[in-house]
Amino acid sequence: MECIMKRSERPLVEKLINFKEKHPVSFHVPGHKHGMLSDLPLDIRTALRYDFTELEGLDDLHEPDGVIEEAQQRLSSFYGSSQSFFLVNGTTVGNLAMIYATCRAGDTVIVQRNAHKSIFHAIELTGARPVFVSPVWDEATMTTGGVTAVQVGKALQAYPGAKAVILTYPSYYGLTGVEMRETINLCHTYGVPVLVDEAHGAHFVVGEPFPYSALDLGADVVVHSAHKTLPAMTMSSFLHIRSTIVSPEKIVHYLRMLQSSSPSYLLMASLDDARAYAESYNEEDKIIFMKRRVAFIKRLEMIPRLDTIETDDPLKLILRVKGYSGFDIQQKLEAEGIYGEIADPYQVLFVLPLLKVETSYPFDEICKKIETAISRLNGSSRTVEKVELPPFNEGHSRPAYTSEEIAHMEIEWIPYEKSEDRVAAASIIPYPPGIPLLIGGEVVKAEHIQSLGKLLQMKAKFQGSIRINEKQIVVVKKRTGGIV
Ligand SMILES: Cc1ncc(COP(=O)(O)O)c(C=O)c1O
Repeated sequence: MECIMKRSERPLVEKLINFKEKHPVSFHVPGHKHGMLSDLPLDIRTALRYDFTELEGLDDLHEPDGVIEEAQQRLSSFYGSSQSFFLVNGTTVGNLAMIYATCRAGDTVIVQRNAHKSIFHAIELTGARPVFVSPVWDEATMTTGGVTAVQVGKALQAYPGAKAVILTYPSYYGLTGVEMRETINLCHTYGVPVLVDEAHGAHFVVGEPFPYSALDLGADVVVHSAHKTLPAMTMSSFLHIRSTIVSPEKIVHYLRMLQSSSPSYLLMASLDDARAYAESYNEEDKIIFMKRRVAFIKRLEMIPRLDTIETDDPLKLILRVKGYSGFDIQQKLEAEGIYGEIADPYQVLFVLPLLKVETSYPFDEICKKIETAISRLNGSSRTVEKVELPPFNEGHSRPAYTSEEIAHMEIEWIPYEKSEDRVAAASIIPYPPGIPLLIGGEVVKAEHIQSLGKLLQMKAKFQGSIRINEKQIVVVKKRTGGIV
């Protein structure tokens, strides 16, 4: 309770607490009747007591004029947007809504190539024609970062009628790059709105030592997975708009269509709580967080063979052990009960807790477990070489067909070595580095085949449609007498 009092006001949370205290009788949905009919474990059943629906006084996410409106207004004024929204289907639905609100079938959109699949899905659904801009490679973290202003500028010069530039900021590993403000300003000189998937940056709003939010750098629409770095429940996200180009009405229109008509009050309350958590995060909290973080890193670096790599976001930390892949490290850590965010062939990524003065984390115990895990690493591991990825020469590239068009074409599986000049019918996303080698609709070039060969040799993991074991890829069937 003391912890609650210290936080700023949470209108929706308070409303749910008051409502529950009146012991309401349920003859409405949901069918679990405040958890009474549920056989779930007690902890979960207890939470179901707050799992209300649009009852008198509890407002409606899709037509807010009461407590949800108040909670969203608090969110908007805290983040400095002109309007902000609670999302109950993650950043995935925010990405869909911002792209639907700006693009129609046939429109050109400029897209950072290492985008999350929800961006690719939104482009496919709208029928927009993407132009992909490649990100830079960051040697320190061995991952891809942002795009440069020069590359985006070249894409805009080639496609000045683009309806949106879609960026991902920061990267999964917390890279922000240095050219975001410049890139956004450049897009605005073309009158093109900048839509930013800032899934991993909901906490940037607390200010230094955390990076700037794209919202503060002038982006038109920004989506945050509050559940990734703030204390919100999984699937809880924010969408913010501050734009003279993108219409808030269109965003609202698509959010109404794309989100459930029965949004979870638990998720919405956790968003109200997460906003309050960030809003009350003060200088003292930041100092303590940074002190504990530095102490944690120092302890980790005393562990023989273990290296830590810091990125632009202090909430992210990379762990490496020379000669071992991230998967090896992950396996040993998990055997000790330590679960990182992601492993790749080079390393494991941790997302640290955004601690406040009054919140603690068992770092001593954690360090001991990590030390045990690392001491258990033995035997040899494969080394990973860097593979060149497209576009190989130009900074941007445009697929021959959209995914929508591909969906209506006949396809076939062929050996990848024989796929030169054929049109890929699905994306191939190697991990590392998690950026598509081929996107459905792109023409396969000799360079793609070479890179794919190297990736297969080093046993990279793949997302997307590739029959790895058979070394086959799916392509559009050649029409008799046609070119594909
Ligand atoms: C960059 C990025 N964007 C969007 C998403 C989807 O976010 P959500 O899980 O909130 O729908 C993710 C999920 O990992 C992501 O990493």
